[in-house]
Amino acid sequence: MVPSLAAQAHSARIGSVINSVINTAALDFKDLSAIAVTKGPGLAGCLAVGLQAAKDIVRLHKNLSLVAVNHMEGHALVPRLDNPSISFPFLTLLISGGHTQLVVCKQVGDYAMLGDSLDDAVGECIDKVARALNLPFRGGGGRAIESFAAIGVVSDEFELQVPLKHTKNCDFSFSGLKSACLNLLAKHPDITTNDTKKANFAATFQHTITLHLSDRVRRGARWCRLNIPQVKHLVLSGGVACNKAIRAALDNVAASEGLLLCAPPPALCTDNGVMIAWAGIENLLAQKGLVTDLDSLRFVPRWPLDSSGTDYFPGTHMLHNKTKWEKSAAQTKAAIAEGDKRPHLFFSLARDLSRLQNYSEALNICNEGLSVREI
Ligand code: KG4
Ligand code: ZN
Repeated sequence: MVPSLAAQAHSARIGSVINSVINTAALDFKDLSAIAVTKGPGLAGCLAVGLQAAKDIVRLHKNLSLVAVNHMEGHALVPRLDNPSISFPFLTLLISGGHTQLVVCKQVGDYAMLGDSLDDAVGECIDKVARALNLPFRGGGGRAIESFAAIGVVSDEFELQVPLKHTKNCDFSFSGLKSACLNLLAKHPDITTNDTKKANFAATFQHTITLHLSDRVRRGARWCRLNIPQVKHLVLSGGVACNKAIRAALDNVAASEGLLLCAPPPALCTDNGVMIAWAGIENLLAQKGLVTDLDSLRFVPRWPLDSSGTDYFPGTHMLHNKTKWEKSAAQTKAAIAEGDKRPHLFFSLARDLSRLQNYSEALNICNEGLSVREI
């Protein structure tokens, strides 16, 4: 297949960035052992471009191995680059624009997902509220929320509720808080125009988020004490981990639960190439993630760190997701049965069925989707 002009332009641009990095580091490709590349999760377009560039390099330089890395694994492992005393197993809170997850890193490639967001990610919620507050948005709204919060006072007047206060597990939820903020700001536009009110609102919003994260992490730390007492560190990573107020609150939680908080410097918290390179090194040393067949390597837009299906807190995100997928599968099945034969319905049903681990039915539906497309 001939790559499109846009794809060729992307490849050329990426090639020149990679070459300039190699030159700046005064290295040559023959000095390297491997190339690490993000296989997922993420946006298909971005993953495809990165994967293609990595494959091109490895095809050209036969001495190189290729290591496929999970983006969230990059966030989880990069704190070990700066701080080798963080040893497995450790507890990690991954807070970014796309994810909010509480994970026990047992070993490279072996992760236990204690909690996950049932809806929006924390960074997504922060960014939406920052936009509604008309805050400067360079690199996401989190930095601006933090600056305004620093000069504001936490206030009850906004009546923001801590999410999932009575849910006894480690899951997160941010869509309710986001909607409450957006509704309030729509009803009281003076908050966005008066700097004092804006600062107080930002402080209260950030405080509410901090209480939610702290509550979940405390529960996770206690679970570790009972189930994996070797856990000594709480690692904080992802773009939202740049936030000093959140770091300070989690430092207190960690200390009161007998753990040591470790968070990488901000440049390694937000998305960066170093974290993927580092996760590549960790995988290579553990003999994991090595790609043996370049042609069959594909990106994976959704790639959970823990696919074991273990429900550590019965009734958690596992059950929540299961119910969601069952409902969506039933709706799609009904639409197909009523005569809607658009191919994407078959593919979406197949995806839900495979998430429900009903692989044989998923394969049949997928084949049906392919035959419908050919007609
Ligand atoms: O990890 P990241 O760079 O990208 C993703 O993988 O999503 O995280 C980006 C998120 C954005 O939502 C951004 O607003 C947030 O990190 N962020 C912050 C701060 N700096 C970046 N959130 C709160 N406080 C900050 N100082
Ligand atoms: Zn990220």
